[in-house]
Amino acid sequence: MTGTRPDTRVTELSTGWIRDHMHEALAIYGAAMGYSSSVVAGRYGYAIQHTERPGFRAVGAFSSTGDAGADGEHLVGFGYGYEVAPGQWWHDQVRAALDRRTAKRWLPGAFEVCELHVHPDAQSRGLGRRLLHALVADLPNPVALLSTPDTDTKAFRLYHADGFVDLARNHHFPGDARPFAILGAHLPLHPRRPGPTNDQV
Ligand SMILES: CC(C)(COP(=O)(O)OP(=O)(O)OC[C@H]1O[C@@H](n2cnc3c(N)ncnc32)[C@H](O)[C@@H]1OP(=O)(O)O)[C@@H](O)C(=O)NCCC(=O)NCCS
Repeated sequence: MTGTRPDTRVTELSTGWIRDHMHEALAIYGAAMGYSSSVVAGRYGYAIQHTERPGFRAVGAFSSTGDAGADGEHLVGFGYGYEVAPGQWWHDQVRAALDRRTAKRWLPGAFEVCELHVHPDAQSRGLGRRLLHALVADLPNPVALLSTPDTDTKAFRLYHADGFVDLARNHHFPGDARPFAILGAHLPLHPRRPGPTNDQV
């Protein structure tokens, strides 16, 4: 895979910044996932609620080439997550999907990698990996969890390559016809290759 270009930076985002730029971030989500504008619009309220959860953390990738904004750069990828807790929809779905022993071992205090997306024009240059590692770097949580469509995607390859293991496969969340995999990794991540350098704010 090609390396990251020097004109991109990956950085932690303040909660205020991601809230103010959530439409921009969700446009990347829609383009990366191939979702319609109505699906993207429907996600906004949930995403804003996510920023209020304990343990919330967000990261962004900025490019200074192409369609740069007034400040000379624009968002080309982002990720965010938070600490899971009983009562949250995703937590409770995952608890029900896992056998009791696995749920007890993996869910308490876990950090959910809720979103991780790179704009299609900027994919396969190392940014997704940099974002993932920046998102979970130095977290106090013992493990990271996520769900992803259960098919051979770039995302699935990235997660498996960088330490995530299968906790459940072929799981169906209510309201979504696609099968999902539920993956978990002990933190810190153990990347396949030396960790990337991230510019933290
Ligand atoms: C998943 C995603 C965030 C990865 O970001 P990226 O910048 O494209 O990926 P990277 O360049 O950092 O590559 C990381 C790994 O992804 C996989 N990957 C990336 N591009 C790939 C390609 N063209 N073909 C196959 N695998 C690829 C590889 O495993 C790669 O590791 P390697 O370089 O050691 O082989 C990004 O592709 C994306 O936004 N995809 C669509 C949205 C999505 O699925 N998000 C996750 C939802 S759970």
